Order: sequence, then structure tokens, then C-alpha cells
Amino acid sequence: MTTAKTTTAETAVEQAEFDRLIESDSRVEPRDWMPEAYRKTLIRQISQHAHSEIIGMQPEGNWITRAPSLKRKAILMAKVQDEAGHGLYLYSAAQTLGIDRETMFEQLITGAAKYSSIFNYTTPTWADMGSIGWLVDGAAICNQVPLCRASYGPYGRAMTRICKEESFHQRQGFEILLELMRGTPAQRAMAQESVNRWYAPALMMFGPPDDDSPNSKQSMAWNIKRFSNDDLRQRFIDMLVPQAEVLGVTLPDPELKWNEARGHYDFGPLNWDEFYEVLAGRGQANAQRVAKRKKAHDDGAWVREAARAYADARMEERLAS
Ligand SMILES: [Fe+2]
Ligand SMILES: [Fe+2]
Repeated sequence: MTTAKTTTAETAVEQAEFDRLIESDSRVEPRDWMPEAYRKTLIRQISQHAHSEIIGMQPEGNWITRAPSLKRKAILMAKVQDEAGHGLYLYSAAQTLGIDRETMFEQLITGAAKYSSIFNYTTPTWADMGSIGWLVDGAAICNQVPLCRASYGPYGRAMTRICKEESFHQRQGFEILLELMRGTPAQRAMAQESVNRWYAPALMMFGPPDDDSPNSKQSMAWNIKRFSNDDLRQRFIDMLVPQAEVLGVTLPDPELKWNEARGHYDFGPLNWDEFYEVLAGRGQANAQRVAKRKKAHDDGAWVREAARAYADARMEERLAS
């Protein structure tokens, strides 16, 4: 009875300290007490984000051997390698919350954890490397810049590093499309066709409309999320329109129009049925992406075993000396 009372009193003090950190917009660090729901939300969000970076290597990795020049190949390799690094920063950040990496890998390859649905779309043309950089990395930046100020320290710091690299990713995608748009009619048509396919899925990366996004409110109260899905989507569209004009591509939305009164672009409805279909595992490449990841994980077992054996031997040596 006494113990239970003490525990409740202690928790109340800890909760008050946590609330104070959030209210003063300070950072919560791994050593700090945090409510279980906050920890679980972060584990889910950060690990899903890490999985997205890792699975996101596949649609572009698909083009490394077929890049049209040595320069393009080198750039694409560097970009895909950056995504691997992003996955690793984020797995490390999630580990500070008490989940181990092996468990997260398991969750990814068994389908228990989700990753961004955008990576379940296929990349049939070279222009898709441009569209992914410009639209997918572009949407990721809009989403991720506010996460640099996320209340959980390790997540915010990982995001700061990631965002610097994402800017390069977006520029390289824009530049691929720009070069295609300055090329032959066939190249221009390829760029436009690719933008037509990626535009709406990129807008859906911000998640469902605010009314259908029940967890967002709590994440905003905890200073994990700073802007709502719809606000971020609007920001992204406002940013894209002038860039599309420079490129000379048409954004595939007949309702896209500047609204003087709102000071923003109006846009047409998105096909959320498609979003939920892909989320449910029925996209173009869901099965293929997870199978490939599982194979890479299985093929890499000997590397993990060797690294473990080496670490054990070093530990034994150190203990013996
Ligand atoms: Fe990334
Ligand atoms: Fe990226």
C-alpha cells in the first residue's frame, strides 16, 4: 500500500517535470522520465521513419546500374548511400528509447511495422529518379524540417543532419528533370509522364486529411509534430508551383489555382482510396520490397555473426589484460 502510494507520488512529480519540459519547449533526453505513450509513439514514428529510409533505397537502387552517365551514376549512388545513413541515424535514435535494432528489423521484414507507402510505387523510367528527388525528397523535407525541433533530443538531432542531405537530394532530382525538359521531345514527354505518376502520391505522403488523423493532435501537444498534415501539404504545393514553372512541367491537377484571398494555391481532391489500398499492402511493389529486404537481411547474417564474434573476442582480450 505504502509502496503504491510512493510510486504514484513519484510518478506525479516525474509527470510534472516532463510537462514542464514540454511546456517550455525544451528537449526530453533518454535519461529523462517520459510517459509510456510518448515513448511508444516515438518508437513507432522513428522506426517507421528508419524503415522508410531503408526501403526507399530500393526504387532508386534499381537505376544505379542503368544511370545514363558516369556522373549520374556517382550522384545516384551517393544519394542512395545517404538514405542508408539516414536509416542508421534513426535506428540509433529509436534504440535510445529501449527497443533493439534486431527487433526493429524483425518488425520490418515480418510486416509488423509500416514504412512510407510511397516506396511501394515502381520506377519504370529514368525520369522517375528526377521525380523522386524533386517530389518525394521534396515532400520529405517539408515534413522533416519541423521535426528538427521535435521534443525528443536524439530524434531532433538526427533530423538536423538528415535534412541537410535531403536538400541535396531534392536539388539533384530537380536538376535531372531540368535537363530532361531541356532535351528532346521524347525526353520532355518522359519527364512529364513521370511527374504525372508521382505528383499525387507525393502529396499523400503528408498523411490523411487532419479530420482523419486521430494521432496528430497528441503528437502536436507533445511537440513531436509542429504542423498538421493539411498545413504541410499546403506548404509543399505552394513551394512546388513556382518550381514546376521553372521546369516547364505541368502539375497534373486541373483545379490547381492561386487563391488571392487565402494567399495559397487551391487544389483538387486526392484519391485516398488508393492511399489506403497501398497502405493495406496492395500497392505495385509491397511484396517485392519486403521480400528483397528480407533476402538482404538473410544474406547479411554472416556479416553480423562475424562482427559479433570479433566484438566478443575483443571484450575477452580486454577482460584478460
Ligand atoms: Fe532520407
Ligand atoms: Fe532523401
